[in-house]
Amino acid sequence: MMAAQRQTAAAEAKLCRPKGGAMQIDQDKLNAFMGKMLGDLGAALNAPLIRLGDSLGLYKAMAAEGPATSSELAQRTGTTERYVREWLAAQAASGYVEYDAATERFTLPPEQAAVFADEESPVFLAGVGDVIAAMVYGGPKVGEAFRTGHGVGWDAQNPCLFCGTARFFRTTYKHHLVQEWLPALDGVAAKLARGGSLADIGCGHGVSTILMAQAHPNARCFGFDYHEPSITAARQSIAGTDLAGRVTFETCSAKEIPAGTYDLVAFFDCLHDMGDPVGALRHVRSTMAPDGTCMIVEPFANDRLEDNLNPVGRIYYAASTLICTPASLSQEVGLALGAQAGEARMRRVAEEAGFTRFRRVAETPFNLVYEARP
Ligand SMILES: C[S@@+](CC[C@H](N)C(=O)[O-])C[C@H]1O[C@@H](n2cnc3c(N)ncnc32)[C@H](O)[C@@H]1O
Repeated sequence: MMAAQRQTAAAEAKLCRPKGGAMQIDQDKLNAFMGKMLGDLGAALNAPLIRLGDSLGLYKAMAAEGPATSSELAQRTGTTERYVREWLAAQAASGYVEYDAATERFTLPPEQAAVFADEESPVFLAGVGDVIAAMVYGGPKVGEAFRTGHGVGWDAQNPCLFCGTARFFRTTYKHHLVQEWLPALDGVAAKLARGGSLADIGCGHGVSTILMAQAHPNARCFGFDYHEPSITAARQSIAGTDLAGRVTFETCSAKEIPAGTYDLVAFFDCLHDMGDPVGALRHVRSTMAPDGTCMIVEPFANDRLEDNLNPVGRIYYAASTLICTPASLSQEVGLALGAQAGEARMRRVAEEAGFTRFRRVAETPFNLVYEARP
């Protein structure tokens, strides 16, 4: 036996020896798990590089101008070749770009370009880099909250969460909201086409409000959020456009939305973030027209934890631990539904708030869309 082999065998024997009643390690399972962890670690360490490629315009330059050496890409983007070379090598090792050793050129294939470079594509994901960064920045605050039990408000997170969320969610809203979700609601699209009104609660940067307003030129549209900087950003995005006259953004918590007779009130990925979702829904119900509709868009989730142990549940449970659950715990009641509450739980929330009809009207791999009616 070679010295190196002897060392490995000794290390393995040490690993496998049961200690103080501990269960014996199955070497095959350990190897398989280490293989999985290798992939997970690679993905985690490369996440900041996605954010860099996005913010420096590296993906977009590759998509627009085709294959490039590191020098060519550095030139195209006004960056430094040595950094770009290392970034490209990491991208190639990740399978995000392809490398041709003969020409020393890197190519962003069309499928990857759709994910990283094309903001209008239905699979654009690059905005998630800012959300991941916010989770890292906010981690210590949430860690402290694990001990105290206190919440960490949405407003107490790093600002890159706010634009990251807006950009990440925009992809789904742009391709599903007007095309599928609104038509799935009983009579709502027709009312808005005739010139009704809608309120978008917890609207963040107003992406969903703006999409609905653009699709319904006769409708009056209101976006409300308790986070003032998000409302400022929403206002900025319509300033000087023809939406400015009939779209209004106001800083306001869900339980204080001014009286109205809205044909539609909508919650996009925010009801579970609220401390008192029952109170919020109950109040918002009182601002609706008698035959109005409430649309609740929530992360896709099954009712039982064991049915959410999949790649989508994995993403949402992580965001829920560091963002959604602390946000809800920071507000009154602190119900902390979490991002994987599921349909049965949401139905109970809507019924407690006084809605008598509740149904799932649409879904995507990432979202469930409910209709609640008085
Ligand atoms: C995950 S973000 C979703 C933002 C936006 N709806 C979207 O889909 O892009 C959650 C939003 O809910 C807002 N929010 C949380 N609690 C709120 C409350 N009690 N009243 C109003 N807005 C609230 C936050 O400020 C944040 O903008």
